[in-house]
Amino acid sequence: MPRVAILGAGGGIGQACVREFAEAGWEIAAGDVDDATAAAALAGAPGFAAAVNVTDPDTVAHFAERAEATAMVYAAGINATMPITDTDFDVWRKVMAVNLDGAAIAAAAFARCMIAAGSGGSMVFLSSTAGLRGEAGASAYCASKFGLVGLVQSVAAELTAHDIRVNAVAPGNVDTPMLRAVARDIAQAEGSDPEAVWQGLATAGAACRLVRPDEVARLCLALSAPGLGALTGATVPIDAGSMLL
Ligand SMILES: NC(=O)c1ccc[n+]([C@@H]2O[C@H](COP(=O)([O-])OP(=O)(O)OC[C@H]3O[C@@H](n4cnc5c(N)ncnc54)[C@H](O)[C@@H]3O)[C@@H](O)[C@H]2O)c1
Repeated sequence: MPRVAILGAGGGIGQACVREFAEAGWEIAAGDVDDATAAAALAGAPGFAAAVNVTDPDTVAHFAERAEATAMVYAAGINATMPITDTDFDVWRKVMAVNLDGAAIAAAAFARCMIAAGSGGSMVFLSSTAGLRGEAGASAYCASKFGLVGLVQSVAAELTAHDIRVNAVAPGNVDTPMLRAVARDIAQAEGSDPEAVWQGLATAGAACRLVRPDEVARLCLALSAPGLGALTGATVPIDAGSMLL
């Protein structure tokens, strides 16, 4: 049975990844910031759950060793909405720590394990359309997600020699707890109606609809499966056409 490690497994996209990989016959190593969130994320799927704070290199390294995975999905992340003039640099550093430093920590830990195992592998990182195009009020988030695209390209170039593929996915607006919180934050900052903000986010793409978490998870699964062996260093949008507008 192939094994996948999913970091941020308790989130909207992480949970969808647990379900899609389990249905496709994968064993899951589910990591999230605390025991309860990680255990709930596993939801009866085969494998194990563990508390993993992605900003802690020792914990991530231990998790990677225990997982013995041929695939890793990095779905941990946090968002922050603040205009550049009001930047709280404690918040800025937290966004960078989880979205970018944590991704590098995971890439390093899983690369070491996959190289030692000698069986090749795949890593998929959750970037965003905010990693491909800037957005007002989201400088920290955008900078972290643009950084992730560069990290993925560099690590992909390094690991081809070990038959380890490294890709990113760039979702548009996905219906998850994170996007609900973003809508609330924007409404509060603008003094506008949260439902109107939510409708705006929900119809932002050319297809005029949200992306579903299971659609993102299926893309992560396709990128992790052996059939796409030539695909590495890519950032694949899945955004209901938001980049077309
Ligand atoms: N929802 C969207 O519209 C959207 C769009 C594009 C990209 N993304 C990205 O996809 C990823 C998943 O987003 P989501 O919508 O499922 O968000 P979510 O808030 O539902 O889930 C994020 C998960 O990350 C975990 N996490 C946060 N800090 C952590 C830490 N220090 N250590 C370990 N885990 C930690 C949280 O506990 C949570 O389970 C994120 O990187 C996000 O930026 C989301």
